Amino acid sequence: MATDTLTPRKVPRVETRYRRIVTEIPVPESIPILEKLRRCEPRSMGGQPPVVWDRGEGFQVYDRWGNRWLDWSSGVLVTNTGHGHPKVRRAIQEMIEHGLVHNYCFPSEIRARTVEALSRVAPEGLDKVFLLTTGSEAVECAIKLSRTWGQRIGGDEKIAIVSFENAFHGRTLGSQMIGGIPALKKWIVNLDKDMIQVPFPDGFRCPDTRFELFVESLEKQGVRPERVAGVITETYQGGNASFAPPEYMRKLRAWCEEHQALLVFDEIQAAFGRTGTFWGFEHYGVVPDLICCGKGITSGLPLSAVIGRPEIMDLYPPGSMTSTHTGNPLCCAAVIANLNVIQEENLVEHTRRMGEILQPGLRRVAERFPDHVGTVHGKGLVASLHIVRPGGIQPDPELASRIVRRSVEKGLLMFAPVGYAGASVKVSPPLVITEEPLRESIQVIEEAIEEAIQ
Ligand SMILES: Cc1ncc(COP(=O)(O)O)c(C=O)c1O
Repeated sequence: MATDTLTPRKVPRVETRYRRIVTEIPVPESIPILEKLRRCEPRSMGGQPPVVWDRGEGFQVYDRWGNRWLDWSSGVLVTNTGHGHPKVRRAIQEMIEHGLVHNYCFPSEIRARTVEALSRVAPEGLDKVFLLTTGSEAVECAIKLSRTWGQRIGGDEKIAIVSFENAFHGRTLGSQMIGGIPALKKWIVNLDKDMIQVPFPDGFRCPDTRFELFVESLEKQGVRPERVAGVITETYQGGNASFAPPEYMRKLRAWCEEHQALLVFDEIQAAFGRTGTFWGFEHYGVVPDLICCGKGITSGLPLSAVIGRPEIMDLYPPGSMTSTHTGNPLCCAAVIANLNVIQEENLVEHTRRMGEILQPGLRRVAERFPDHVGTVHGKGLVASLHIVRPGGIQPDPELASRIVRRSVEKGLLMFAPVGYAGASVKVSPPLVITEEPLRESIQVIEEAIEEAIQ
């Protein structure tokens, strides 16, 4: 069932302190806007619940017709400090008024302050920061740096990039090549044989969480360890909010060191407090050689970064690793304000505490519907309900869509299901959500599941 049908449905009125649904969904007056989007954009842009966003504030999103949603999307895990945090907006406004809205890679003070601020929050030794615009670009850059590093230290043979099955790293050529979802790669006719995937030890779809499986999988695919230039993984697999066991990651770190391969964490979803630690990889007790980040770095504007050790980051000479919008001044102003808000509002610790409500709350909901919720994965303020068919773990994307749709009709905003077979209902509220609305939203999802399975 599509989540984006354009036929208005009468839904019960909802009026709480945090949610207000007083029209049909989609709102009849919003149909011309939705139709215009359908007419003028590619079909690929559809698929989300038909809520026409007018403005966002904190953990709530508003339309123009009197409806208000409690947000469990954060856009797509972007608005960590909340929608339109006043300090982030003010910083952007001040930069606009100051008069610098673009400066390519000519030097600017705001870019200097931004890269310094990011290197300060990065683990020791990861001192250099390269700014880009999208997460996919940061991943492309990490692939390029890993291969170049491999070639530099091991010659033309040391070029293999290892990533994980079910992984998502973006939609550009390289980021899709290292992605672990075969359906997304059908269009790439010349898949790079030196980009290979191994099982991700999530303990659900892949019950074998031994690190030995990594080594065995390389062997099976004929990749000698000394040929590996880099291993890249999402810190948790975004679609499914699935983490690896810390022991696995510690062994992977040691393996990378032994074989002089770079370890790259794609922190595009995980960083800036989302999981209850500043960086997601803190849960594993390991430090990567390169970090890719984006999304919650600004809580709104498009900016991404690769952060890493100087000897890797400095592989390319002046002028050969740049981008037109690198370190855009407005985006940089947002980064600095956003980092300050995370610190001033103690959002990492707050997220950890809210996670202690969200995670057990969702597990309790799952226990109520064991035939339909296969498992719940997540940490802090990110989670995924893995929706399955009764009697096993076969994914049920139709039910997942109905759950999202019912939630939206009840004033709980979520994006369309993602993850394994499109059957994961993803939970990712802005980190500024507080206890009362969080508890209320858990109750709403429980009701939505109950209604969706009928
Ligand atoms: C883990 C991860 N990596 C990379 C990307 C790609 O980022 P972008 O959409 O900004 O290119 C995403 C986006 O969803 C992501 O979740």
